[in-house]
Amino acid sequence: MRELPRQLRLTELENTLRYEENEAKRWPCVFLLGELIEPQYEPDKSVFQRVADQMEWTLLYDKSPIVAHEGAFQIGLRNFVDKKQTLIDVSLNKEYHEITRHESIEAIGTMRAYECMPMIKALENDENEGPAIRDTARFVRLRLELLIAAGSEPYKGGVL
Ligand SMILES: [Fe+2]
Repeated sequence: MRELPRQLRLTELENTLRYEENEAKRWPCVFLLGELIEPQYEPDKSVFQRVADQMEWTLLYDKSPIVAHEGAFQIGLRNFVDKKQTLIDVSLNKEYHEITRHESIEAIGTMRAYECMPMIKALENDENEGPAIRDTARFVRLRLELLIAAGSEPYKGGVL
């Protein structure tokens, strides 16, 4: 896959992520797709948009939570701030698997979305939530508190 020309690779990855039945084949495509916005591929705005849109689609619609949660991870890592609302929606929606919700909450933390702190605290304290969600929310709250204390700004991408 890495040998393919950039544009062809993008299309191949989108198609595999949308139509491949085997989740073990879809899973690596999430990572390969994320790489396409790295500087060595000289991504333009349309590549950014297509990668971000596919990550969102995978998070929302992939039937496997193991694949879907990697979409959330990439949205945080690649700092697709336009998809922040989708992370919030999935974090709060109990129809999604706990693994997927966990990663969406974590990605909000990766983005350093300080304005989400009230929502994170509400999840942490919600007795109707299980430990996967409450422990994740507690962790993200602690992380954001540390970053606020250090005077850190919202995540701009790059190394954590
Ligand atoms: Fe995680």
